[in-house]
Amino acid sequence: MNTPTRQKFVVGNWKMHSTTLEAEQLVNGVIHGLSVNNYVTVILCPPFPYLALVRDLLKGTQIALGAQNMYPEAEGAFTGEVSPTMLLDLGREYVILGHSERRHKLGESDSFINQKVECALAAGLNAILCVGETLEQRKANQTEAILDRQLTQGLANVPPEFLSQLSIAYEPVWAIGNALHHESPQQAHDALSLTRKKLSRICGEIRAQQMTLQYGGSVKPHNAAAFLGQPGLDGVLIGGASLKADQFVAIAKAAMGAMKAEVQPS
Ligand code: PGA
Repeated sequence: MNTPTRQKFVVGNWKMHSTTLEAEQLVNGVIHGLSVNNYVTVILCPPFPYLALVRDLLKGTQIALGAQNMYPEAEGAFTGEVSPTMLLDLGREYVILGHSERRHKLGESDSFINQKVECALAAGLNAILCVGETLEQRKANQTEAILDRQLTQGLANVPPEFLSQLSIAYEPVWAIGNALHHESPQQAHDALSLTRKKLSRICGEIRAQQMTLQYGGSVKPHNAAAFLGQPGLDGVLIGGASLKADQFVAIAKAAMGAMKAEVQPS
């Protein structure tokens, strides 16, 4: 049996969806569907108000908990914000940072996202840094330049010893929530190869090879295996399909199948 080269992730980003009842049903459905959870780190990222509820429901399972955002200070006069200390206190291990909805709808800059990455890693959280180009940028052949900028600025001054707590999610903005116009597995593979090349320049070949790189953008049960079968694609960040337990479970099982094929090639 081969040793897996990198940790595999399936992350459910619920975004601003759910009620208490829906959260309970969704988590219970995922737990029930994933009673055997080999090879893959499954992470649920509910909205802040459902944190304690989801944490309690996940107790005793192998499913991890993540947040969708945080503010880069331990505490202070920041009305409405949530700190890394609070996330750790509430049992969250992971945090998504720099999601395109925060970059483009809430105006977060690369330097602000960089502060969040530094602060999250220093606090002991595992960060998932999202990067990706808009459709206009893709059409103007700027994908490489955008990835370069978002990675270089997003990871500026991050001490190398913290990089083992970091993974990257490449999510082309135009492919998110867009079942009709999404990226092909081959395109995702090419963009992730580019991402790893940039990472190798920023943090060295060894660290770049060790880092988990995920893809996100309309991954659904019918296309998950094709994405997850791409070499160098170590996981998926799921939005819409993470709100349906059966769909999320099917994607997580596709990831487990891909991982099994990697460690036990036929
Ligand atoms: P989607 O969202 O799966 O609905 O495209 C992905 C994301 O925004 O992380």
